[in-house]
Amino acid sequence: MKEKLEQIKTLAISEICTAENTKQIEELRVKFLGKKGELTNILKQMGSLTAEERPIIGQVANAVRSDIENALSEKKSLLEENEKNAQIEKEYIDITMSGKKPNIGHLHPLTIVSDEIKEIFLGMGFSVSQGSEVEFDEYNFTKLNLPENHPARDTQDTFYITEKILLRTQTSSVQVHVMEEEVAKAKAENRELSPIRIISPGRVYRSDAVDATHSPLFHQIEGLVVDKGVTMADLKGTLETLMQKLYGADCKIRLRPHHFPFTEPSAEVDVMCFKCKGTGCSMCKQEGYIELLGAGMVHPKVLQGCGIDPEIYSGFAFGLGLERIVMRRYGITDMRLLYENDVRFLKQF
Ligand code: PHE
Repeated sequence: MKEKLEQIKTLAISEICTAENTKQIEELRVKFLGKKGELTNILKQMGSLTAEERPIIGQVANAVRSDIENALSEKKSLLEENEKNAQIEKEYIDITMSGKKPNIGHLHPLTIVSDEIKEIFLGMGFSVSQGSEVEFDEYNFTKLNLPENHPARDTQDTFYITEKILLRTQTSSVQVHVMEEEVAKAKAENRELSPIRIISPGRVYRSDAVDATHSPLFHQIEGLVVDKGVTMADLKGTLETLMQKLYGADCKIRLRPHHFPFTEPSAEVDVMCFKCKGTGCSMCKQEGYIELLGAGMVHPKVLQGCGIDPEIYSGFAFGLGLERIVMRRYGITDMRLLYENDVRFLKQF
């Protein structure tokens, strides 16, 4: 029996020595020391020994058990160490290696220029009013002195949601809302009307076919100033300041008489071609100036319709096309490029 124990010990130790991982060590522990293990099997036969033999064999068995246990734990910690090192090796990260640059987007050219224009107007004491794209026909046309059946409605045909609700064709609808709100506020607080100085940028819609310079959706920025003693000179000065900030201090503007139902007098505003500085080139079709916006003095009927006395107050308004300014700024010749969201195009700005 003693030899058998010694044999188990030799076998166990040699198997432990060749174990390759901690899993095998656990298997060997079960094999030799477990409940159904080899050592236990031998010890079960202790009953057949004599009383003198029993303590001697018992001692040997204990020594064998503790030798195997020691061998197991020694080998186990060695293997654990190796496994840990292998893992560290595998998961090693070189923190000094240069990383992959993430692709960061940027603002759309329409947003870049719109923000710039907002900033210029904020600097002149204007605030930004948000209008809604879905509008009552009354605010888009009627209250702007374009009654039903007015021929100018045809030139701004749009998308109707119901008979009386449409997608606005111009940001001028915001004028009426702002004037009505300011009049109501003054009334509620029992004071006279405070000066109005707002711009309102946003999308407008017309049922235009799509080509290089037309789109059923585009952007305008509306401006409105109402106060006592506002004149056409204030309008010209404001627009000149805007254009000089956008295109440089030597930029000039030109007002041409025009007609809008909601302004009187009305003007179309041209800006000096920034490429040829007014002498004429291919960009401005040899004209030296480029048409950029519509403007004028708010029509007395519009003021009156909002509850403002045109004998006391006067105002000016303008509406500029954002796409035109963006296209001039960057030399873009096809408006559709602004809406296609092709990153190869957008990356350039
Ligand atoms: N709303 C006009 C348009 O879309 C532009 C405009 C605005 C003209 C304000 C005069 C005053 O053509």
